[in-house]
Amino acid sequence: MSKKNLAVIFGGRSSEHEVSCISVQTIIKAVNLDKYQLHLVGITEEGKWIKVKDIADIQDGSWKQSKDVAIISPDTKGELLVGKENSDGTYCYDENIKIDVIFPVLHGMFGEDGTIQGLFEMAGIPYVGCGVFASAASMDKFYTKLVVDTLGIRQAIYVGVIASELKNMDSVVARVESTLSYPVFIKPSKAGSSKGVSKADNREMLIAGLLEAAKHDYKILVEETIVGRELECAVIGYDKTTKASGIGEILAAAEFYDFDAKYNNAESKTVIDPELPEGKAEEIRECAVKIFNALDGFGLSRVDFFLEKDTGSVVFNEINTLPGFTSISMYPMLWKAKGYTIESLVEELIEMAVERP
Ligand SMILES: Nc1ncnc2c1ncn2[C@@H]1O[C@H](COP(=O)(O)OP(=O)(O)O)[C@@H](O)[C@H]1O
Ligand SMILES: [Mg+2]
Repeated sequence: MSKKNLAVIFGGRSSEHEVSCISVQTIIKAVNLDKYQLHLVGITEEGKWIKVKDIADIQDGSWKQSKDVAIISPDTKGELLVGKENSDGTYCYDENIKIDVIFPVLHGMFGEDGTIQGLFEMAGIPYVGCGVFASAASMDKFYTKLVVDTLGIRQAIYVGVIASELKNMDSVVARVESTLSYPVFIKPSKAGSSKGVSKADNREMLIAGLLEAAKHDYKILVEETIVGRELECAVIGYDKTTKASGIGEILAAAEFYDFDAKYNNAESKTVIDPELPEGKAEEIRECAVKIFNALDGFGLSRVDFFLEKDTGSVVFNEINTLPGFTSISMYPMLWKAKGYTIESLVEELIEMAVERP
């Protein structure tokens, strides 16, 4: 049996570039090489597409200096064009490889937001994970809220702000303060890995938080603070086949699960199948499937919730269509607890991509 050509794309232009470079190593190691011929493509922070030789070049970061280039062509021939960067900076593509399936291991903007999925659709190449709409709607927290509202699942109350409104900061502050009381959470509508997310205990912090969030997106959400536990649920499949994993809990070593707490603080812990009040695990699993399906999810996602301390109610926070795949990431760990090895998980995701209706 001839091997299928699998392109694995990683890196990317988002603030989660480094996380992707770690996630991709887990995935590469899990690919069945008897079945797939691997083609690694790294996208630098500047957006340059590079043909990467092997995992060692990702581990030491040397791939970014390579003069080997590769791009997915939008032509419906479905090819990876491979070539060289010339000394004058021009590119010459002289090899065409027909790609059977793509695994985009990209987090955040230009990777998880439907843009690159649009390219794959143009090229007619099957790819792992959510399609254009589900990716875009899940990346944009404002639009996710609109969809999830129709399901009657509780979410934090919020005030939407547009960056241009910050010129009249007093009226924005007045609007926030008339709806919410401190502390509040401020977040860019489209971002990830807690970039631009802050908690404000007072007006000064609110103003600083709004200005910071505006650096990441022109649409900003200010939310009521939900005091409670942070619980996550992994899903795999699509439509009627969507399955939910068990529950994972985040024990952040900081005041909230910010970028440092996520990736730099060894004290941040995750617990699989934590002790929960009667019925809550089932409720979260059902909500995760409903939310994923309502957003037209395909393949995989991690759906994040709070369990509010005072009321015991389940509150939806956000959905990630390409969750982290590092060795300590919740998505693979939740499935491991259900008997999936990382190899079987990767294989199922790729198979699903090929069979996408
Ligand atoms: N409304 C909220 N109430 C309490 N904590 C929140 C709220 N929104 C966000 N957080 C905290 O901030 C973290 C990052 O926010 P999140 O919405 O998950 O954005 P990101 O896409 O960057 O992960 C969460 O994991 C949680 O710790
Ligand atoms: Mg989050």
